[in-house]
Amino acid sequence: MKLTDCHNFQDFRKLAERKLPSPIFNYIDGAAEDETTYIRNTQSFETCDLVPNILRGVADIDTSVKVMGQNLDIPIYCSPTALQRLFHHEGENAVAAAADKNGTLFGVSSLGTVSLQEIRKQYHGPQCYQFYFHKDRGLNKAMLENAKEVGVEIMMLTVDTITGGNRERDLRTGFSIPFKLSLKGMYQFGIKPAWAINYLTHKKFSFPQLDDFVDMSDAVMSVGSYFTEMLDPDMNWDDVAEMVDFWDGEFCLKGVMSVEDAKKAVDIGCTGIVISNHGGRQLDGSRSPFDQLGEIVDAVGDQIDVIMDSGIQRGTHVIKALSMGAKAVGGGRFYLYALAAAGQAGVERALDIMRSEIERDMRLMGAKSIADLSRKNLRFR
Ligand code: LAC
Repeated sequence: MKLTDCHNFQDFRKLAERKLPSPIFNYIDGAAEDETTYIRNTQSFETCDLVPNILRGVADIDTSVKVMGQNLDIPIYCSPTALQRLFHHEGENAVAAAADKNGTLFGVSSLGTVSLQEIRKQYHGPQCYQFYFHKDRGLNKAMLENAKEVGVEIMMLTVDTITGGNRERDLRTGFSIPFKLSLKGMYQFGIKPAWAINYLTHKKFSFPQLDDFVDMSDAVMSVGSYFTEMLDPDMNWDDVAEMVDFWDGEFCLKGVMSVEDAKKAVDIGCTGIVISNHGGRQLDGSRSPFDQLGEIVDAVGDQIDVIMDSGIQRGTHVIKALSMGAKAVGGGRFYLYALAAAGQAGVERALDIMRSEIERDMRLMGAKSIADLSRKNLRFR
């Protein structure tokens, strides 16, 4: 199987599975507990059908959106994700380059493996910084100041990782950070030699955003236990209001699920919210963002940019979310499998496929621009 054999999400997933040692593949692919939320996230798009319009003159269409002050050429962006150089040695650079080529937003994570500065120097398109609020207030302050100095457009604070999700696949495989070679791991290296050679012959794995504050040299912990041990479970609305004041720019909460919280985000001056359940990786049993989107848009959609992620695998999923009132959507696994499959070329292909699905779907829907999409296009079963 080659990159050119990948035509959709599942194809990229298959190729990623062939390329990656199994603990790493399962880290990306897995979710919390019974993974019911992970499955529901995508299934929820099947609860409604699209109602197309015809004869609208759709030779020229415009897929662009404006969200959180940024102009994006396509309505889907690459959600910030952790550990990217572990999946492919090109890591964050590959994702940033592919997003830049497609005129869309991407983000560097607090748990990213390339520094914010390095990425910013090379790419000037819209960028967000994904922030984890640590127990160490000194680290939080330094990360905020750094992101401000670097000139990142959007601060995106993750609020659904107050404790680690119960990711049983990681418990079984022993996946941990920093990635350490156990005997079992050696076996995995043995059967995925191309990945191992790439990993060992490129720049040493590190967490540039955290290195000055967190000594990971002796640590071996799952991502779930990193959240539990390092992040502050006492984080509250006052802490976030302080961050919003300090940031004084586009500020977004990622992981809002209730109308009540969406209203509070407006009250403290956030400019965006991402309705998200972290790709089903945190609270299994949580409602899916698409199921929850309508009521949140109805409550705050005219006061704050409502975005959603989790479960998006197809252009039609994007069309449905935008028709419900989302300003844009984010995706993680759709580009992570592609990154693992083929680095930058893979992410470019995943984004190209998304772009052409969205363009085709808009034409078939009779929509010349995103503004033409509305709930009139949807019928719930
Ligand atoms: C995860 C974090 C790191 O879901 O975003 O694994």
